[in-house]
Amino acid sequence: MPFHMLASLLWLCGGIAAYCSAASAATCVKSCGGVEIPYPFGLDPACALPGFNLTCNITGDGKPYYKDVELLNISLTQGQVRMRMHIANYCYNSTSGGMNGTGWSLNLTGTPFRLSDFGNKFTAIGCRTLAYLLADDVLTTECVATCKADDLLRLPDGVCSGIGCCQTAIPKGLQYYGVMFDSGFNTTEIHSMSRCSYAALVEASSFNFSKNYSNSSVFNDHYRGRAPLLVDWAIGNETCDVARKKSNYTCISKNSGCVDSLNGPGYRCNYSQGFHGNPYLKPEDDGSCQGEVAYNPILSAIIEKVKLK
Ligand SMILES: *[C@@H]1O[C@H](CO)[C@@H](O)[C@H](O)[C@H]1NC(C)=O
Ligand SMILES: *[C@@H]1O[C@H](CO)[C@@H](O)[C@H](O)[C@H]1NC(C)=O
Ligand SMILES: *[C@@H]1O[C@H](CO)[C@@H](O)[C@H](O)[C@H]1NC(C)=O
Ligand SMILES: *[C@@H]1O[C@H](CO)[C@@H](O)[C@H](O)[C@H]1NC(C)=O
Ligand SMILES: *[C@@H]1O[C@H](CO)[C@@H](O)[C@H](O)[C@H]1NC(C)=O
Ligand SMILES: *[C@@H]1O[C@H](CO)[C@@H](O)[C@H](O)[C@H]1NC(C)=O
Ligand SMILES: *[C@@H]1O[C@H](CO)[C@@H](O)[C@H](O)[C@H]1NC(C)=O
Ligand SMILES: *[C@@H]1O[C@H](CO)[C@@H](O)[C@H](O)[C@H]1NC(C)=O
Ligand SMILES: *[C@@H]1O[C@H](CO)[C@@H](O)[C@H](O)[C@H]1NC(C)=O
Ligand SMILES: *[C@@H]1O[C@H](CO)[C@@H](O)[C@H](O)[C@H]1NC(C)=O
Ligand SMILES: *[C@@H]1O[C@H](CO)[C@@H](O)[C@H](O)[C@H]1NC(C)=O
Ligand SMILES: *[C@@H]1O[C@H](CO)[C@@H](O)[C@H](O)[C@H]1NC(C)=O
Repeated sequence: MPFHMLASLLWLCGGIAAYCSAASAATCVKSCGGVEIPYPFGLDPACALPGFNLTCNITGDGKPYYKDVELLNISLTQGQVRMRMHIANYCYNSTSGGMNGTGWSLNLTGTPFRLSDFGNKFTAIGCRTLAYLLADDVLTTECVATCKADDLLRLPDGVCSGIGCCQTAIPKGLQYYGVMFDSGFNTTEIHSMSRCSYAALVEASSFNFSKNYSNSSVFNDHYRGRAPLLVDWAIGNETCDVARKKSNYTCISKNSGCVDSLNGPGYRCNYSQGFHGNPYLKPEDDGSCQGEVAYNPILSAIIEKVKLK
């Protein structure tokens, strides 16, 4: 980092906080592609708790990635991240007269991440569609969507009812899922009305059914092929009571509390009321640069510029 950039960092920190841990601010980049990356997450293994290191795709789209999955958002208070996962499709191919499709899977086994059972719905779109959600390669959830030509005129927007659209809940604690279609339900005979079926695990609050989804690619296009997915994360595999006695306990801010994960083993740190710092950081690293850097748009812009050079 050029000297004048470091000077700007110090100046900005000085203007915001009473005391400032310049070293941590200067060495750990806290933002990527407009997404804040607060500890325990980091863009370098040295800046992250094990399992929480991400990469910033500087040579590509400039977005943060966990392995090959894009991250949209990180929430410390909710203990959640939003990922963008591919939408599976199964389409009639007018050239071959057969069906072609792409299924997808996500394997988070052995990581701190679990699919949120509250936040996501397995969602399928189509007029002759049977989609499966596989957990650990076992069929666990299925979703059937059918419709007829005159349904397309009558369907209300905003209601996913099994006509042109279906949604089902997923089990708790999942770390793996795959999406596939039943070939017995295909659009060969109805392709002039509805050529493709789509299915994905989707953040429920981001989804709003439109009747034009069921006979077009509007659903897929709306999410540009990859829909948001809510993922819970937790520290380790112990409860707060057990972890508190260990030397690697991570709720080390003096304003920090601990809550057991509700979706599988592990715990999260939370803020005590009225505190807005980072409960995962020591007092000398927090309330100063670490916290402010993460939420300072001017500084993020500077960091972005530095990265572009
Ligand atoms: C980085 O972005 C490019 C497109 O700009 C994309 O092709 C590539 O897959 C991305 N990297 C990762 C790790 O996904
Ligand atoms: C995190 O860092 C470790 C050690 O450098 C590396 O092996 C691992 O692949 C990284 N994880 C991710 C998701 O980038
Ligand atoms: C991340 O989530 C917060 C709170 O839900 C929201 O205000 C913010 O706009 C989100 N940022 C992105 C990049 O999605
Ligand atoms: C459609 O079928 C043709 C002939 O088999 C094939 O070349 C083409 O890649 C297929 N299209 C898609 C989208 O799979
Ligand atoms: C499309 O499906 C046909 C028939 O199953 C298959 O031969 C072809 O390889 C598929 N094309 C693609 C691009 O997957
Ligand atoms: C998921 O990944 C774990 C660890 O990498 C591996 O043991 C397991 O077989 C994978 N599961 C599936 C269904 O691919
Ligand atoms: C869903 O979209 C319809 C219009 O297409 C709108 O009236 C409705 O308020 C939306 N619902 C939500 C929850 O966003
Ligand atoms: C499509 O479904 C029909 C009726 O179930 C079946 O006879 C046909 O083999 C299926 N086509 C493909 C490509 O699986
Ligand atoms: C699909 O329907 C929604 C809501 O009714 C509308 O906002 C959108 O413009 C439509 N998209 C297309 C491509 O027709
Ligand atoms: C979908 O169905 C509606 C109602 O019949 C029709 O107005 C619209 O043009 C159809 N869209 C496509 C892409 O065929
Ligand atoms: C902390 O250390 C214990 C062993 O003392 C280990 O079992 C646990 O997984 C560690 N927790 C974390 C979060 O690394
Ligand atoms: C907890 O995690 C530690 C290290 O991460 C591992 O050695 C241990 O087997 C795990 N315990 C359980 C019950 O999964």
